[in-house]
Formats: sequence, structure tokens, C-alpha cells
Amino acid sequence: LTNQVSSAAQARRLGRLARAATIGVCVDSERQVSLLDDAAKDAGVSMRVYIELDVGGARCGMTAASDVVSLARAIGCCDGLKFGGLQAYNGKAQHIRDWSSRDAVVRESARQTQAVVAALNTAGFDCESVTGGGSGSFEADVEVGILSEVQCGTYALMDADYMLVHRKDGSFLDSLFSSALFVLSSIISDRHADYVVADAGLKAMAFDSGMPLVAADANLVYRNPSDEHGIITSRKDAPLPRCGDRIALVPGHCDPTMAMHDRIHVTVEGTVEAVWPTVSGGSW
Ligand SMILES: Cc1ncc(COP(=O)(O)O)c(C=O)c1O
Repeated sequence: LTNQVSSAAQARRLGRLARAATIGVCVDSERQVSLLDDAAKDAGVSMRVYIELDVGGARCGMTAASDVVSLARAIGCCDGLKFGGLQAYNGKAQHIRDWSSRDAVVRESARQTQAVVAALNTAGFDCESVTGGGSGSFEADVEVGILSEVQCGTYALMDADYMLVHRKDGSFLDSLFSSALFVLSSIISDRHADYVVADAGLKAMAFDSGMPLVAADANLVYRNPSDEHGIITSRKDAPLPRCGDRIALVPGHCDPTMAMHDRIHVTVEGTVEAVWPTVSGGSW
């Protein structure tokens, strides 16, 4: 679990899960350590805990090496917990489009991580795992070599924002990972000469990372999302789709888009092969 738990109920739930699965969880305070230790002992299990570092993401995580060493000592005193290492994930690095700017941020995160690993080693703690990275940074992470594991997720489906992230050789990330997540939308009105209306808007896709792309037709542009609609215009007077046509949209951000839907249709060469329920059930 690449997050912290903050209540006894959540910790107990994790403890119960740890009876059936190997559970690792992040911490950045003694309160979380104590909740998890109590829960692990109640459930009769051992849980692996990772101290989260803030390596530039400005989210959860500790920064001072001395604080990390103190927390590792607190974990070491817990019968129900095992110190597993560090989580050093910098979400802000992932979407930096240009390789050299992203590489510089990744190297700075790695420098901070390395300093904490050294302090832990000096204090007698072994960092079995140093986990972090994502689909945007993984190539730089691997080059730098501090992480023992990269946590890429988006690469499996991709989204319109990640498609524009540059790799070291100047190519886009979608040359490595092609889009596999689409929101299928119908054109529901074509009364106007210069635009048509699609039936997918703010309730169907996340827009925090920008507009969706119209798959398979670079001349069509999605704009002006509202609750249930989007406007499709065309570049260079290319023909617009007509009422009743369907267009596949590549959402700007796959993670929250996925959480808006309770199932996905898995297709192979245009044929639906399976319907999978999503974990969030469209109700988060
Ligand atoms: C802690 C953590 N690790 C890994 C990821 C996956 O990153 P990506 O989807 O960019 O590959 C995320 C994404 O939100 C994350 O929060």
C-alpha cells in the first residue's frame, strides 16, 4: 500500500488482509507505526513497513535523515512490524515533458534518497527495498540506479498527457507504450456545419491533465467539455463524424477516469472479449 493509514479501523483491516497476503505499507509518523503494530499483533501477523520520503513531491513523507532513523528505530521496537526500506516516489517528476528537465529532478530525488540510505546504514539499518518511480521517470530511475523497484502503473493503459512525455532519444512515451484505454462516445447532434456534439464530458473522463484526444483521427479536436457533452471540431476542414457515429477518446488522465466507471470492456481487434468490473465500482 503506497500510502499511510490514519485510523485503528484501517490498520485492523490491513492486519486482517495480511493473514491472506504479504502486506507492505508506508509510514511517515510514529502514530501510524503504533496503529499498525497494534493491528499486526491483534491479527497475529507481521507487516512490512516502508518509511516514505518526500523527495520533491510535497505530499506525504519525511525529509530529515535523522527523523527517518528515529522512525526506523521505533519500527525496530515493534513485534508486529518489520522495517522493509524506503518509498521515494516523486509524483511531480512524472509528467515533466522534456527529458533533461525530468532527468535533473529524478537525479535530485535520488541524491536525497541516497543520503537517507547512507544515514540508515550508518545507524545499522539495512534498506532491503527502495521503491519509487513511475511511468514518466522509470527510464531515468533505472539509469540512476538508486531504486530497487519502480512503481509504474499508467504504462499499461496510457493517457493523452503521458503520450506527450519525451524520452531520452526525443521520441514520445507512446512510442514505447501505446494507448489501451478509450472512452467510447457517440455523436448525438450534427446540426452545425463547424462542430458536432459527443455524449462524453465531465462525468465520463477526468480533465485535470487536459483534453482527451480523438483516437485514430488527429484532425478531430475535442473541446468545451460540460457535464455530459463535448464539442468536436475539425482541423483543415477534415470531415466531421455524423450523428450516430462513434468515436474513441483517449482520456487526459487514466487513473481518475477509470474510477468514474464501474466496468470496462476488453476488446481484441474490435471484438469485446470480456467485461471487467473496476475496483472502485464507479463510486469513489
Ligand atoms: C505512490 C505512487 N507510485 C506509483 C504511481 C504510478 O505512477 P504512474 O501511473 O505515473 O506510472 C503512483 C500514481 O499515482 C503513485 O501515487
